[in-house]
Amino acid sequence: MSSNRFDLGNTMIVCSCNVVSDRQVIDAVSASQGMRTPSEVYRCLGCAPQCGRCARTIRALMDQVQNHNCGECAEDCAVAGLTGLVAAE
Ligand code: FES
Repeated sequence: MSSNRFDLGNTMIVCSCNVVSDRQVIDAVSASQGMRTPSEVYRCLGCAPQCGRCARTIRALMDQVQNHNCGECAEDCAVAGLTGLVAAE
């Protein structure tokens, strides 16, 4: 039994104040249409910005997802490789 609730696999925490992972941000942005600001991501994930240090990272993840249509590729791409995102089947 090697399950560890703190084992995040290929994900990483991008917002330490709210304990939000890159995977959560990518999933939220991928599932939404037209998310434009990090504030919308926080709201979608049921949290709010605290210190704001993560805003640039969340913005960068949003750009990656929106510019590369993550989840729509037939195979992994550089963006997916960086995030551990599994391409949609
Ligand atoms: S690290 Fe995200 S609000 Fe502080």
